[in-house]
Amino acid sequence: MKLIIVGASGLVGGEVLALALADPAVEAVMAPARRATATTHPKLHAPLVDFDVLPSDAAWWKADAVVCTLGTTRRKAGSEQAFRRVDHDYPLAAAKLAHAHGTPTYVLNSAMGADANSRFFYNRVKGEVERDLADVGFRSLTFVRPGLIGGERDEFRAGERIGLAAFAVLAPVLPRRLRINPAGHIARELLHAALQPEPGTHVVESDRMI
Ligand SMILES: NC(=O)c1ccc[n+]([C@@H]2O[C@H](COP(=O)([O-])OP(=O)(O)OC[C@H]3O[C@@H](n4cnc5c(N)ncnc54)[C@H](OP(=O)(O)O)[C@@H]3O)[C@@H](O)[C@H]2O)c1
Repeated sequence: MKLIIVGASGLVGGEVLALALADPAVEAVMAPARRATATTHPKLHAPLVDFDVLPSDAAWWKADAVVCTLGTTRRKAGSEQAFRRVDHDYPLAAAKLAHAHGTPTYVLNSAMGADANSRFFYNRVKGEVERDLADVGFRSLTFVRPGLIGGERDEFRAGERIGLAAFAVLAPVLPRRLRINPAGHIARELLHAALQPEPGTHVVESDRMI
């Protein structure tokens, strides 16, 4: 099977990439990115792309499944509009191109609380991208919705570090759905949905990934 990973340079995307490259069921991985990757592997093709003008005629859009783990923070993006571009517009643009080339399955790393009607900006954008992806027409569509993601980042995110520390201490008394989701556990669910697609739309909630 051929897999497209959008966001393979990130924390969760990197875990999906490692699992996919090690999986004998995966023959080839396309990992379009805005920066060159240091990872080399005979199964990996990592074309450099500009996400504002994705190459609509690239043959690699034709695959068996897409896993999208793109995302940013409002602080890093610089504005709500820039955040929305990365967390909504880019995943949707990649979805439309992959679908137009015949790729039947799409799996999104979304977030707990995704809701197009939420009064919280982050949850609303995640809900809007889920809603708009549902209109693209994939045979199999899965939204994986982690809570707080655990794992080692190169970048320092103070709020997230504090949240992770607090959630780790509180874990024994927290409901399962509020516990930390290690990036590797999320990646396993994302890849499973890509490799064993079920027709229709599916949601994987955070309590499956602790
Ligand atoms: N942090 C949490 O606790 C949490 C909780 C629930 C859900 N989520 C969601 O889970 C998903 C994955 O999170 P993560 O922690 O793995 O993210 P991450 O480590 O920050 O990785 C994000 C990916 O998106 C790419 N990206 C970011 N801005 C971009 C831009 N302007 N143009 C092109 N590519 C861009 C990054 O590429 P570069 O390497 O080129 O920057 C990277 O591949 C995200 O959608 C996030 O919103 C996060």
